Amino acid sequence: MNINKLLLKNKSRLEYYKIEEAQLESELIVMHVLNLNKSDLLLNLQKNVTKLELAKNDAIIKKRQKNIPLAYILKFQYFYNAKFYVDNKVLIPRQETEILVEVCLSILENIKSKIKILEIGTGSGIITGTLSQILNTKNIEYIATDISFESLKIAKHNILKINKNTKLNLINNDLINGLKGEYKFIISNPPYLSSEDMKTINKELRSEPVKALYGGEKGYEITEKILKQLSSVEIVFENLILEINPSNKTYLMKMIKQLFSDYFSYVIKDYNGNNRFILLSKNNATKFLDQFNYCPN
Ligand SMILES: C[S@@+](CC[C@H](N)C(=O)[O-])C[C@H]1O[C@@H](n2cnc3c(N)ncnc32)[C@H](O)[C@@H]1O
Repeated sequence: MNINKLLLKNKSRLEYYKIEEAQLESELIVMHVLNLNKSDLLLNLQKNVTKLELAKNDAIIKKRQKNIPLAYILKFQYFYNAKFYVDNKVLIPRQETEILVEVCLSILENIKSKIKILEIGTGSGIITGTLSQILNTKNIEYIATDISFESLKIAKHNILKINKNTKLNLINNDLINGLKGEYKFIISNPPYLSSEDMKTINKELRSEPVKALYGGEKGYEITEKILKQLSSVEIVFENLILEINPSNKTYLMKMIKQLFSDYFSYVIKDYNGNNRFILLSKNNATKFLDQFNYCPN
């Protein structure tokens, strides 16, 4: 069988099992099995695959049919054009989180002085890793926390693989307990599904760690705790960005108005126009937000 036929066969098998992105997944599987990048795959469509390659391909399809997410089967996920190791100890990076990274990059470009960035709930380390790779400066020290020790091991691997010079301090911690200091940016994509959301999640989401998904009865409890801790502990920050559940925007913005009345606040939308991110900034940040779909609050 040649590569083209294998791609089509995979696609129709995945569609039969109602996998949404069957075409894309079919390509990712074949690229992985044959160790080819996308352009080499397209240049070699007429090349035949070996029996061993076919067997490897079929083993992956079989697992996928059981609704194990492809990222957990292949043990990687692309984020911001880079390949990150993932397994079922960490959340699979989501594309919309790239917007959060872009907002940070926009505000952080041209950093000349020494600064610290704190990420709460780093998971696989995609946010800190991507910032470190792109900003690539010794002026930034990254502090990344997670309540899951297993995920910190993965974050360490990913962040140092993407930039071995990262000044990195990983802390196994409950949010920001015990942390002090001054931060240029505090970043978090905390768990934000509610009890109701958890009842209706599909089989694939159920493969991901509950700790990375469940935000409390209403979904906003962990985010609320972060905000309350930040307003009271010995932490000074210039910018804060949070990924949120759009349905919690009104509740959280009300709380932010009360706790951080001396900050500018912005709600930034994701690719689908949902209110997905909240940015707080000591200074007017509108000049950094031109390229984003946002509203000042
Ligand atoms: C939604 S995931 C985000 C992971 C990663 N930052 C990303 O964007 O893909 C939330 C992360 O927060 C961590 N977490 C949950 N509760 C926490 C807590 N109380 N303190 C610190 N981290 C926590 C989870 O283990 C998980 O890695």
